[in-house]
Amino acid sequence: NTYDLLVVGSANADLVVGVDRRPAAGETVLGSDLTTHPGGKGANQAVAAAKLGARTALLARVGDDGHGRLLRDSMEAAGVDTSGVLVGGAPTGVALITVDPSGDNSIVVSPGANGRLMPEDVRAAGELFAGARVVSMMLEIPLETVAEVVRNLADGARLVLNPSPPAPLPDEVLSACDPLIVNEHEAKVIAGTDLGDDPEDWARQLLALGPRSVVVTLGSEGALVADAAGSQRVAAVKVKAVDTTGAGDAFTAALAWRLGTGESLAEAAAYAAKVGAAAVTKEGAQASYPTAEEVSAL
Ligand code: RIB
Ligand code: NA
Repeated sequence: NTYDLLVVGSANADLVVGVDRRPAAGETVLGSDLTTHPGGKGANQAVAAAKLGARTALLARVGDDGHGRLLRDSMEAAGVDTSGVLVGGAPTGVALITVDPSGDNSIVVSPGANGRLMPEDVRAAGELFAGARVVSMMLEIPLETVAEVVRNLADGARLVLNPSPPAPLPDEVLSACDPLIVNEHEAKVIAGTDLGDDPEDWARQLLALGPRSVVVTLGSEGALVADAAGSQRVAAVKVKAVDTTGAGDAFTAALAWRLGTGESLAEAAAYAAKVGAAAVTKEGAQASYPTAEEVSAL
């Protein structure tokens, strides 16, 4: 294989302001100076994997503008193959992010060019798909493009999907996931119902919808991995949160990469938990991702 990981997804410029608290409707609050970071769940995953040492490519679309160039620079500095990063059609996607003193964020995404990554772009990227051992996706691109990716996977290629921001998924997509990676909120939207209080039960209900395996992320409680053979808990790695933005993307990318190296779901999730933990200790998304050496030092 040419690539350990092919990511198909979004690339955004993250416009970040720190706030003491978020404004209510009709209210204005003052925040910190604006910082602009390369982000977007797809570009974040690609940079996270490349920084860990994975041979990584990204299929995405950015605008012909400064934000698009910021993203390309960040990806190239991390060693991501950007031959699949298409340009034009709309401005680069933007994420308007507020970060509060506890490190939690709220995000509004304007998809821009991400919304113009179309099924024909997937069909035209045959070489990227032919060379990819694992393909990872999220939902900041059109759902018909996500479905087209499923149809273009090489024989034996493994699909990892974090349905964020969550939306109901067609069976064709659900049954290809190995694993489907969800937090509690995403699990509810995918299942279309309240799932009760027991994460083991969420995993069982999600598996019944078709994915070959499921990873439920539980924040400070770690994660739960499950497949037909049973389920297993993965411990959280405790760190002081500075900025959680993009930590989930780093978790997903690390997990996808490790699965491709032959690790079990539980092993890959334990490694990914360390990568996600390292990412919350620094500001920004891509800028906060660790190298493999930094992960082993944790
Ligand atoms: O998951 C974090 C990412 O979500 C941010 O980088 C932002 O761009 C949004 O896509
Ligand atoms: Na971070």
